[in-house]
Amino acid sequence: MNELIKKLVEAYGPSGFEDQVRAFVRTEVEGLADDISVDAMGNLIAHKKGDGSGLKVMIAAHMDEIGLMVTHVTEEGFLRFTNIGGIRAHTLLGNRVQFADGRIGVVYSDRIKDRGKVHPLSKHFIDVGADSREDCPVGVGDAAGFVRPFVAQGSRLIAKSMDDRIGCAVAIEAMKRLESSPHDIYFVFSVQEEVGTRGAQAAANKLDPDVGIALDVTLTGDVPEAMPMSVSLGKGTAIKVKDSGMIAHTGLVRVMKQRAEAAGIPYQLEVLTAGTTDARPIQIANGGAAAGCISIPCRYVHSQSEMVDAADVENSVRLLVEILANPIDL
Ligand code: CO
Ligand code: ZN
Repeated sequence: MNELIKKLVEAYGPSGFEDQVRAFVRTEVEGLADDISVDAMGNLIAHKKGDGSGLKVMIAAHMDEIGLMVTHVTEEGFLRFTNIGGIRAHTLLGNRVQFADGRIGVVYSDRIKDRGKVHPLSKHFIDVGADSREDCPVGVGDAAGFVRPFVAQGSRLIAKSMDDRIGCAVAIEAMKRLESSPHDIYFVFSVQEEVGTRGAQAAANKLDPDVGIALDVTLTGDVPEAMPMSVSLGKGTAIKVKDSGMIAHTGLVRVMKQRAEAAGIPYQLEVLTAGTTDARPIQIANGGAAAGCISIPCRYVHSQSEMVDAADVENSVRLLVEILANPIDL
């Protein structure tokens, strides 16, 4: 699975600019679904038909990643920018970004006089090697994602954009392993999650599923002075109970726990006090759906070195397959 994960996490695709990562996902799911479509917003929807006895299930994993967008170019050819999604200034200095054409930029900030302080985003810039505004090859409105090679070290997998390409990897792998299902399943590789779960909202309104399951990363409480949280890296897939945007459907949580226990899949219960996922818009679209989330524990979320554990990824795939292969009794 590492080869698939490497290609996914290294692909370019800030929110709203998912074309390249979508083209790659499409090549991976071709042949695994009955039909594949792309909606007006850019969500890739892979439909796998059931035998007619089950429910309509929407699986959502977001393709987009956090990034930067150029707001203006200085006379000297430096790019000022705004954030695309949850970018924190203290993760930026010295990092490299990549534009859609592959061009690399270095992120730095105006001179720091007080080393105990970090400049706001507005006092950072990107240097693409231009000498002036006139010869700058990048302009206003261009979007950049971060650059970091994928690393597998023991069971730990480290990369930018694990959020949420690892969810995309779990979805693709589950599609490969799922031999048959009673359910009519729509695997949605969604857009614009990082700017407010927008793609999944449009898709859920159109598909109107009975059940929605998001696949996304969650935080862990196992690093120095972490926010207290009872999820650790390597201790199993995480079944979401609550986050700051939703309370998971209790019947679906029960089904997830039962499936995990029956199949001997290690799991942890997740109560996340910050952030939400595509499960929230699915839950409240149209007349509502029974929604929940299989979370992949992840350290350093929204940094350029997000870390997951291969065993948690594997257990997330196994749990998803177990849920989809069996009746869902809510
Ligand atoms: Co995120
Ligand atoms: Zn995410």
